[in-house]
Amino acid sequence: MKKWYAVIGNPIEHSLSPLMHNTWMTVEERDAAYLPLHVLPENLEQAFTGMKVLGISGFNITIPHKETILPLLDELDPLAKKMGAVNTVVRLENGQYKGYNTDGLGFVKSLEDAVGTQHKNKRLLIIGAGGASRGICFALVQEGYTNIAIANRTVSKAQAICNELDTNAEALSLDEAATQLGEFDIIVQTTSAGLNHSEFALPLSLENLSKTAIVADIVYNPLMTPFLAQSKEKGATVVTGLGMFIHQGALAYSYWTDVYPKAAVVEDVLLANLGGNK
Ligand code: ATR
Repeated sequence: MKKWYAVIGNPIEHSLSPLMHNTWMTVEERDAAYLPLHVLPENLEQAFTGMKVLGISGFNITIPHKETILPLLDELDPLAKKMGAVNTVVRLENGQYKGYNTDGLGFVKSLEDAVGTQHKNKRLLIIGAGGASRGICFALVQEGYTNIAIANRTVSKAQAICNELDTNAEALSLDEAATQLGEFDIIVQTTSAGLNHSEFALPLSLENLSKTAIVADIVYNPLMTPFLAQSKEKGATVVTGLGMFIHQGALAYSYWTDVYPKAAVVEDVLLANLGGNK
């Protein structure tokens, strides 16, 4: 019988997940479909019950349901439990539903896709201490990156993440991070600074950025964020957020099908939708 999958969220109409997953499913000639489902917060439990009754094989979860889905699930992957957020749900053979979080690991995969796996001992700076930063920090440590500093406007939030990580991580203010920026090999921008404003806003000054640094942003629309554009001008290697989006989806797809799909298969179709070049 045809399998079906979905992404649930509010809003949901701009999600590129259906395009991405349906492209993979079509290329692999799977008898499957992936739908966007608009679910309001007050309807989450009923929507999940409905999806279960209709035998959904798996689904993704986006804002605002990533945390509120937790108590409704039968099982949780340890990393998702640690993060307190789920973006992927898998129907197990016994009909139960298990939650995973592929956002952070998706970032690590995209970083390693872009610049290789040889940077595990390098100095990393994560800018921001929200939900996205948490996921990325836990995944980086799980994958063997140990030299981490977290800078945030509210330093106590950076310190709280550092305290939870299984490594010696350092919390910094944005000013401290800007001053020490030249000492970092990999810099990851996870804040929403500048996203909702037309003015040119960076979370911190890039004046001291090293030419040999690798700079990643988790935002993929626009692909070339002001943070990446300035970093590139200074000679740094930049990694756009599109890879993280693709790999969080690829990981979810692999949990559903046991096949890790190729990023290249969906890259062009996503780029065309974002109206940009890599
Ligand atoms: P997400 O789930 O996307 O990570 P979030 O949990 O709301 O979103 O976190 C947003 C992050 O962006 C936080 O680190 C926030 O800093 P604070 O913890 O100090 O609020 C950061 N952020 C948002 N706007 C910012 C700005 N204008 N300058 C610097 N940091 C900003």
